[in-house]
This record gives sequence, structure tokens and C-alpha cells, in this order.
Amino acid sequence: MKLNILVVAGDGIGPEVTGEAVAVLEEIAALGGHQFTFTEERIGGVAIVQDGTPLPKETLDAALASDAVLLGAVGGNEFNSLPPDKRPEAGLLQIRAALGGFANLRPAFAFKELTVNSPLRPEVVDGSDILFVRELLGGLYFGQPREWNRAQGEAWNTMRYTKDEVARVARVAFDLARNRRKKLTSVDKANVLEVSQLWRATVNEVAAEFPDVAVEHQYVDAMAMHLMNRPRDFDVVVTENLFGDILSDEAAVITGSLGMLPSATIGGKVNLYEPVHGSAPDIAGKGLANPLGAILTGALVLRHSAGLEAEAAAVESAVRKVLEQGFRTPDLARANREGFPVLSTKEMGAKVRETVKEQLSAVSS
Ligand code: IPM
Ligand code: MG
Repeated sequence: MKLNILVVAGDGIGPEVTGEAVAVLEEIAALGGHQFTFTEERIGGVAIVQDGTPLPKETLDAALASDAVLLGAVGGNEFNSLPPDKRPEAGLLQIRAALGGFANLRPAFAFKELTVNSPLRPEVVDGSDILFVRELLGGLYFGQPREWNRAQGEAWNTMRYTKDEVARVARVAFDLARNRRKKLTSVDKANVLEVSQLWRATVNEVAAEFPDVAVEHQYVDAMAMHLMNRPRDFDVVVTENLFGDILSDEAAVITGSLGMLPSATIGGKVNLYEPVHGSAPDIAGKGLANPLGAILTGALVLRHSAGLEAEAAAVESAVRKVLEQGFRTPDLARANREGFPVLSTKEMGAKVRETVKEQLSAVSS
């Protein structure tokens, strides 16, 4: 298996956690005789500083020429006063648009060992396993017109969707639900927004193609509450861009740490892989970041871009095993076990690699 991966580590903790994800992928390649090549380019704040733009042309060209793009995180406090189109985040939105992936898969599951790290009671979160499908190229993030008219003291953004944009992401979600627990929850605000009425009508139309999947609709405000009250009731959740952004951070509470959550964006020219967490500038460069979200993102590269399902599952089970053994990074500190030192970013990465190696060699011997 040959795979040409572009690594855009970005800002803050991005380089540290991405480094660990790459090391795990390298280990997988070495064990299985695969040829993974890694090329690095800049994006976000580092690119603003060095190239004067958050998404340099070399990065974009390299991304389009690659088989998969692995991204760390973008953003930093020094850019907070810039307008949206000049910020590090603009680089991320531009690369998302250019790669064309419209379905952002964000699995959020409760790891048994981490339930004490969640402020929710174990009996509420245990066994939760939700797959968010966030529409990634439409809605308020990209809708025109958008402007802050300072003279008028007025600003506007546009939430806009076409029927086709809703239908294609709904199909991805139904299809995923079909291979899981066959339940799809579509989240909107159809009691107030026309866009949401189009969204709901379109999801219902697509539902006819998937008679084996049960579909329900929830308003986003109610959904925010249900997620905390009864997360186990949800299987696949499909929603528009901003609602998905908000709900997927909320879902991190179920997992116990935002540092655990991976994501994959599919459906476009090249898949884009990024952990859900941000650049966390306050802890950057200190070895305190949790690399597991990035490592699990690497597992999604194996699953969705390399077709290496067994290897993807091995990485996921290695992460579970390392947690079961009691190893933690500082963000998981509440779930510490007595006598276990808290690991640094690098130490945690090394533990996962060691465990992946054991697991894959046990299978092949
Ligand atoms: C995410 C992030 C991004 C988003 C930011 C960094 C632009 O919050 O991936 O969830 O809003 O999509
Ligand atoms: Mg977000």
C-alpha cells in the first residue's frame, strides 16, 4: 500500500500531537511493509508569519497532489484582533473548501476508563457511541453576503444551503447509520429558520432511499440538552456546519476530554484529517498536550484513505489498552490511577506505538 500524506501541523500544540500521529503511522507502515510518504507544509499562524498568508500556494498545491491531508491545529492569541479572512482559521476554511470534502465525521465515544474524567455521571455516559456528521462547506461559514459594515454599525452573515448540499451529506450519514445501529438524528432549527425547513424536508426525502434506517429530527437547542441527559440514545447525528461545530465540542464532555476526539472529512477530491481540538496555545511546546485525538485521527487515515481497516482498528484498540493500563496525559488527570505517572505527549505516543506493535505482531505470528 502506497500513500502520500501531506502533513500540515499548523500552530500551538499542532506540531507536537501531529508528530505522534505520524510516528504511529510510520510504525504501521514499517510493520506491514507499506510505503507511506510524509511531506510537510505550513498553514495557519505559522504561514501568516513566514509567508504572509494562512494558506500558501505551495501548501494548497501539495494538498491537492496528495492522497490524504493530516492537519494539526490552527490559531493563536496574537491573531485575535485580525478580521476573519486574515486569521489562521481562514487557512483551514480555505483548505477545506479547496479539497471539497463536505462530510466531516466526528466520532465521540465514551472510553470506560475515562468516564470519571467527565463531569457527567458514569451511568449517563457509559456506552455512549455517537458519530457526528457535520456538513463542512456550507451554512454561515461560507454563505454570502458576509460583512462587518463599521460605518453602519452593522454586520451580517448568511446561512444558506442548496437542496443538493443537504442531500449529499444526508446520504453519507444514512449510509454510515446503515452500518451501525441504524438510527439517524437530524438536527436543525426548523421552528425558526427557512434553511432548516429545507434541511428537514430534504433529509426526509433522502430517508426514502434508506428504509432500514430510523430517522428522527431534533431542534438544536433541545439536542444540546439531550446530549448531556441521554447521550446513549444517539447513533449517527447529521447537522449543518455551525450546529455541528458547537455540538461536537459539547460531545467532548461525554468522552472526558476534547483531546480524545478525531475527525475525517470525506466526499471531496482529497480527504482531510484533523483532531477536533484546537491549537491550545496556553500549553503549546510543553509536552502537556494529549496526542490521542491526533493518533485516532491517524487511525481514520488508515480506514478511509488506505483501506487498512485491521490496522485502523489496531490503533484504536491500542489507545483503549493504554488507557486501560492506567496511562494518562494531564487533561485526563481526573481519571488518574494511583501510582501511575502522568505522561508527556511524547511518552503517550511511545506507549501507543509499543502497544500497536505488540498487537499487530501478535496477529501476524
Ligand atoms: C473545528 C474548529 C474550526 C471550525 C475553527 C478552528 C475554524 O472549531 O474544526 O471545529 O470552526 O470549524
Ligand atoms: Mg470547533
